[in-house]
Amino acid sequence: MLTESAALSGTRLLLGVSGGIAAYKSAELVRRARTAGAQVRVVMTAAAEHFVGAATFQALSGNPVRTGLWDPAAEAAMGHIELARWATQVLVAPASADFLARYAHGFGDDLLTTLLLATTASSAVAPAMNQQMWANPATIANVDTLRRRGIAIFGPAAGDQACGEVGMGRMLEPEEQVQALIGLQVGDRLAGRRVVVSAGPTFEDLDPVRFIGNRSSGRMGFAVAEQAALMGADVILVAGPTSLATPPRVHRVDVRSAEEMMRGVLDNLDGADIYVGAAAVADYRPVAPRPTKIKKQAEVIELKLIRNPDILATIAERRERPFLVGFAAETDNVLHYARGKLEAKRLDMIAANQVGQLGSGFDSTDNELTLLWPDGQLALPKASKQELARRLLEQVMLRLEGAER
Ligand code: PMT
Repeated sequence: MLTESAALSGTRLLLGVSGGIAAYKSAELVRRARTAGAQVRVVMTAAAEHFVGAATFQALSGNPVRTGLWDPAAEAAMGHIELARWATQVLVAPASADFLARYAHGFGDDLLTTLLLATTASSAVAPAMNQQMWANPATIANVDTLRRRGIAIFGPAAGDQACGEVGMGRMLEPEEQVQALIGLQVGDRLAGRRVVVSAGPTFEDLDPVRFIGNRSSGRMGFAVAEQAALMGADVILVAGPTSLATPPRVHRVDVRSAEEMMRGVLDNLDGADIYVGAAAVADYRPVAPRPTKIKKQAEVIELKLIRNPDILATIAERRERPFLVGFAAETDNVLHYARGKLEAKRLDMIAANQVGQLGSGFDSTDNELTLLWPDGQLALPKASKQELARRLLEQVMLRLEGAER
């Protein structure tokens, strides 16, 4: 864990509170952010006032709370513009589905949305809503729009919900949000760093029509590339076949087979500080792919496969090697096999995830990781792949900087 004490000193946090039952937790968020050294001012939407009184936030923040655009005293001096300029960091917590929709579409019909249009500060949202609302395609599209604009998305987490349902949509705990804010502050630590990420599956052609592939969507690796870029890194993403859009400020190299991925990675590795191998690289390829379509004639046919080169192990042999992060996708004995790979491939860190179950691992928006390094490990509970990628990179930074000292 990053230490909270004074880690946010110098941060002027504008906390937006939108309407949701999680608003009561934002009172604790104010307290924790102040303990971490931040100055805090709170803006509430009209809906938020149904859940928590402004007096609570006023007492905890030590500052008057703003609730509307039409406060004559504050607005005589263009108060909303002044607030927008004052903030170095904006966080909306809880961010309801309605708020996310209005933010994504550029509304400016209340104080909070107007401030968000007017500010140049780093901005983040902590969504909180019923799990069906979180899974609704409209919400997914709104969150995607915000993410593409560089807005950090904190969580949400999975668990029991106020409505009695269980699933994704619970607001991150105040302590986790403060950690995430600290993470944004240390984000600049990746500035000047070069990060190479592999993502997605590889396709090994049998003939011009068929191939051997796997179920990787590329989401995990794309999330690592996106978060590394948000943290200021110069990012090269070597991507196997996937339909995902390239994250902002990421240089993408498209490849198909494991051999092409190996070349794509090695060609871009000079000067790299970190290599993250999130791709599901095929271990074997056909010995002799056919130049023409294989005809359906014999009852049984045999495929002869040959081992592919191991990208991570090849880099690990270099005298000057970047900080090496592998992934281990396992169906059982996850940590045992992951530690075996960490040691066999001489990695600095490995992120273990379970595959073969719905809702995490391959082809889902969420995942659950355990990070292992030679003398320790850290479990990262179920969250969006972006959130996990951010936390993984924070841990990489802690270790990389420790080694350089
Ligand atoms: O893409 P998503 O749908 O989001 O799914 C994410 C994921 C499950 C694919 C991802 O989180 C993950 O676990 N990726 C690694 C999957 C894997 O195949 O692991 P592995 O145990 O086969 O390989 C271990 C490590 O060695 C990996 O970092 C892999 O990139 C690397 N490797 C493997 C083979 C090879 N020839 N060269 C390699 O560098």
